[in-house]
This record gives sequence, structure tokens and C-alpha cells, in this order.
Amino acid sequence: MNDSVLHFYDEIAEDYHLIFHDWNEAIARQGEILNRLIKSKITSQPNLTLLDCSCGIGTQAIGLAKHGYLVSATDISSASVKRAEEEAISHGVTINFGVADFRTLDKDVQGSFDIVLSADNAIPHLLTDHDLHTAFANFHTKLNQNGLLVATIRDYDALTMEKLPATQPRIFDEGKRIVFQVWDWAEDGKTYTVNQFILQEMNEQWTTKHYKTQYRALLREEINQLLRETGFTDIEWHLPELSGYYQPIVTARKY
Ligand SMILES: C[S@@+](CC[C@H](N)C(=O)[O-])C[C@H]1O[C@@H](n2cnc3c(N)ncnc32)[C@H](O)[C@@H]1O
Repeated sequence: MNDSVLHFYDEIAEDYHLIFHDWNEAIARQGEILNRLIKSKITSQPNLTLLDCSCGIGTQAIGLAKHGYLVSATDISSASVKRAEEEAISHGVTINFGVADFRTLDKDVQGSFDIVLSADNAIPHLLTDHDLHTAFANFHTKLNQNGLLVATIRDYDALTMEKLPATQPRIFDEGKRIVFQVWDWAEDGKTYTVNQFILQEMNEQWTTKHYKTQYRALLREEINQLLRETGFTDIEWHLPELSGYYQPIVTARKY
């Protein structure tokens, strides 16, 4: 991971909801899908404890708290956590927040959980094998016995074939808000710089905001290997066609 990640998410925290068509609707939809998936893997246990360790401004943490999970939520970006705290209050849910890095989660977060969640492609911000291994080992440490890891990650198996230079622009608010990303791939095709653009029209004036960070195009087999190396079993991929979620989801169990 490089410093651009922290900078990117601290900078974008106030505007993060703008990359969604309707953030409140995303909270509800993602909460519903993730809840259904978790309940299909953990049955008959009330008051499940859940650590969302890349909570951002709270999209999944708030959605899942509304489904009755006892949620703790952390992120490396203190500006995102601060906004998530405010959003949790306005959504009427209680969440235990903190600032923590995947790579030091074992020290930064107290206790262990039935579920550890990392949603929306946060893990591929870690660029080295060493950082990834440390993060997965920490996810394992933070789980109770029989606990479930849930991680959602872009479909890099498909994306590295195409090496698209940009995402399709999404046009919201009757053409007054345009959101897209430009991707600069490294020569070896293993990492890319993402340029996130948010264009908005207000009072007939357009403003352009630009945020920049890096990702590793992490393949499913690389993740499977990291999971196996750090002691996870029952590794299962849930693809969008079946889960209804917009990214592949991997679940894995700690025994
Ligand atoms: C794409 S955002 C997703 C946020 C949230 N899950 C959502 O969907 O709205 C990725 C998040 O991962 C966090 N992140 C990146 N690297 C991290 C690390 N090493 N430890 C903890 N969080 C990290 C970022 O700060 C950011 O909030």
C-alpha cells in the first residue's frame, strides 16, 4: 500500500456518497444481500458480532447494523470513520467505531468476532505479498472459532484480460452529476493507478473533482492461496449472477 490510499480516502470522505446513484438505497440493498449470504453460512445464532474492517463512510456497517448485527467498524481513513460515525447517528444505529489498518488489526482492534467483513475492493489496495499475507492473518486472528470472513473484490480475473482504460461514465441527477474512473495500467499488468472523477453542475457551473490512488489486480487464485496459507478453510466464491451483489464475494471459515 502507498500513502496515496490514505490521502485518497481522507480527501474523498465528504463526497464519497456521490459515487453512488443513491447512497441510502445502496446501504439498504447491500445490507440485504450480505445479510442473506451470511445467514446462509451461519444458522441459528442470534446477536452475531461483526467487524467491518474497511467501513469507509459506513455503507455496509450501517446496512448490517439495521439487520441486527452487533457491528464494530474500522478503517484506515480517520476522515471516513468520522463521517461514518455521523451517518450511523443519522440512520439511528449504534456502531462501535475505530481507526485501524488491516496490517495491524490484531493490535488496533480489541476482541474477536463471528464475522469479519471487508467490502468493495478494499483489500487490493495492499500491493505486496507481504502486506496481503499480514492482512489475511489478522482477519483470521480477529475471528472467533467457526467465524466467517466475507470479502468483496473486483473481478480481476475478467478485468486483467481486457485491461480497460476507463469505466463507463455513470450519469446521475438528470445529467448534473457524472462519475467515472480512468485506469493507468502498469506495464506488467499487475497494478494500476485509478483516477476517480466526479463532475457536478450547480447553478450552471461545472466543477471537476479528481482523486488518485493505486490497486493491485488481485486474482481469485491468489486470494485462495492467501486464505489457505493463513489457515482458512471452506473457501467459496459467490459470483454476482447468483448473489445479486455487484462484485464477486469470497467467504472462508476459521476452524
Ligand atoms: C472502496 S472503499 C469501500 C468503503 C466501504 N466498504 C464502502 O463500500 O462504502 C475502500 C476502503 O478501504 C479502506 N482501506 C484501504 N486500505 C486499508 C487498510 N490497509 N486498512 C484498513 N482500511 C483500508 C479505505 O480507507 C476505504 O475506506
